[in-house]
Amino acid sequence: MRVRVKVPATTANLGPGFDTLGMALSLYNEIEVEPWTGGVKIEVSGEGKDLVPRATNNSVYQAIQMVYERIGIRMRGVRIHIHNEIPVTRGLGSSATAIVGGLLGANALCGNLLTESQLIEMAVQLEGHPDNVAPALLGGVVVSGVVGGKTYVKRFNPPEGLRCVVVTPDFQLSTLASRRALPASVAFKDAVHNVNCVALLVSALAEGDLTLFSSVMQDRLHEPYRRKLIPGMEEAFAAAKGAGALSVALSGSGPSLIAFCTSGYEHVGHAMRAAFQNAGVTARVLQLFPE
Ligand code: HSE
Repeated sequence: MRVRVKVPATTANLGPGFDTLGMALSLYNEIEVEPWTGGVKIEVSGEGKDLVPRATNNSVYQAIQMVYERIGIRMRGVRIHIHNEIPVTRGLGSSATAIVGGLLGANALCGNLLTESQLIEMAVQLEGHPDNVAPALLGGVVVSGVVGGKTYVKRFNPPEGLRCVVVTPDFQLSTLASRRALPASVAFKDAVHNVNCVALLVSALAEGDLTLFSSVMQDRLHEPYRRKLIPGMEEAFAAAKGAGALSVALSGSGPSLIAFCTSGYEHVGHAMRAAFQNAGVTARVLQLFPE
């Protein structure tokens, strides 16, 4: 038996929703898994194929192993084929696709014994935060959080007519390095600002209120600290707004930026790429839909 799973890219945080908001995007990685008598065989094609580990530290493999251990079946060997369309280490959830693809593939091979909420808990354990893995598994917009050791998720459909312009600089930024740039504490007024913005942003997304959506995608908890890691970020934010984007955010831990539009997305992408170019950074533009 061979199982193939298609998992979407995700954009985490959506500005103020640090480690809690995420949205699936119309760009996919495919993960194929099958039992294999010759040990562990990992093949990778597509984006970043030379960056993906081929040994037991591969995230797809680790997710598969976790499923077999949880169910209590001995894994004799496995062949994994990963085809990446999502740029690697660019803030678009490529590692979440590996984890979710491995979990779903292995669960299917084992007769789908694990429930969706068990798979989400396992994905969060592997990834360390829920805001990429939850929308990668569920699609749509997902509000997620780990509270008292338990992961909560709420999924809803993205607003009608929303388009996304992702601008991906041509350098890698690991989540670890980007999290190391964050401070140990923040000012009380900044925390209150984010609570205000994220609560309003969730209602704007749930009700499809794009006017409110465009006003409250503002963050003071992570974007200001990560700016120094991404030359041209501030200028690209301004360029997106100037070109008519509804809102713009750092995608996950970066370095990609995501702008949201209902029209004029080509113009927005062009303006953001030009801003990066002026800062000496080459970048590519992807026009995507919420998934
Ligand atoms: N919420 C995480 C972060 C997402 O911003 O570090 C990482 O993709």
